[in-house]
Amino acid sequence: MAGGEADTGGPAAAGAAGEVAPRLLSWYDRHARALPWRVPPGGGAADPYRVWLSEIMLQQTTVAAVKGYFDRFTRLWPTVQALAAADEAQVMAEWAGLGYYARARNLIACARLVAAAGGFPDTRADLVALPGIGAYTSAAIAAIAFGRAETVVDGNVERVVARLFAVQTPLPAARRDLTALASTLTPDARPGDFAQAMMDLGATICTPRNPACALCPLMDLCAARAAGLAADLPRRAPKAARPVRTGTVWVALDDAGVLVETRPARGLLGGTLAFPSTGWDGSDQSPPQDGDWDVAGEVRHVLTHFEARLTVLRAPLGNPSRGEVAARAGFDATALPGLMRKAWALVR
Ligand code: ADE
Repeated sequence: MAGGEADTGGPAAAGAAGEVAPRLLSWYDRHARALPWRVPPGGGAADPYRVWLSEIMLQQTTVAAVKGYFDRFTRLWPTVQALAAADEAQVMAEWAGLGYYARARNLIACARLVAAAGGFPDTRADLVALPGIGAYTSAAIAAIAFGRAETVVDGNVERVVARLFAVQTPLPAARRDLTALASTLTPDARPGDFAQAMMDLGATICTPRNPACALCPLMDLCAARAAGLAADLPRRAPKAARPVRTGTVWVALDDAGVLVETRPARGLLGGTLAFPSTGWDGSDQSPPQDGDWDVAGEVRHVLTHFEARLTVLRAPLGNPSRGEVAARAGFDATALPGLMRKAWALVR
């Protein structure tokens, strides 16, 4: 394992990789977080629909932020068949605020394929062929919903493994090594509980800063702990500065209505409800109506690969050349993506 573990011991050197799963599972039996998509420890396989939905929502988003969305989605659409039959615009509106809108478009596409097939496939290889399901999510669903002994590696698990084996190589270069090391820990029994135990350990004890090593069930197996390195791992290559893109948002409104448009399905914030805008997304649009615009202010919002800084202009609603006028009375700003919600907060 090039540039891999320090020679300080740890589960590999100690030949104790087999110790990790039983210890961690017994810790999980006592300390598992109760989360709405989970079955209790030892409860066996969870509902594949709820596991899939939660894992898609949890990509790039925290457990705390996801819970409310998960509850709403499962109340509105309790099964994959119900979601497959849902109105796409309603799904996009319910997703608003979670970000990374390609996930929502893939969610609908995936639900339709799965409903048509009569249910979720139960192997990682078949799951990974579905829209929006990649290496991580396929492993998570196979382990948690189908009891397959797949190795599930998210950011929390990378940190736990980097510390257990004292891997000094910085991320992202270390990713392959960390996945290989993680796979040496995966048990044949209770792989779903094991995966979620690793996540919980990373979220509650083996935290990025100030890890609570004294409470850790793996403390005496941990090479980073032995070397006094726990808080320094994983190392990370320095990040490039985030590029800034500028642009303009136009909000035309009066007491009765506000001008909105549905963004093109492909591309940034694709398929979401938005105010007309230009520049930040690579487009070169003209204002949606003639006449004067007042500057309402500037909004800044971080998207996947850049930060958008947008000048927000407002004007009384005139004769727009594009978009549609939404009634002001029932206008629901929570149906807008975060960037547009910020623009709305400036003008209304
Ligand atoms: N993050 C991603 N999936 C998770 C899960 N099943 N439990 C807790 N945190 C998670």
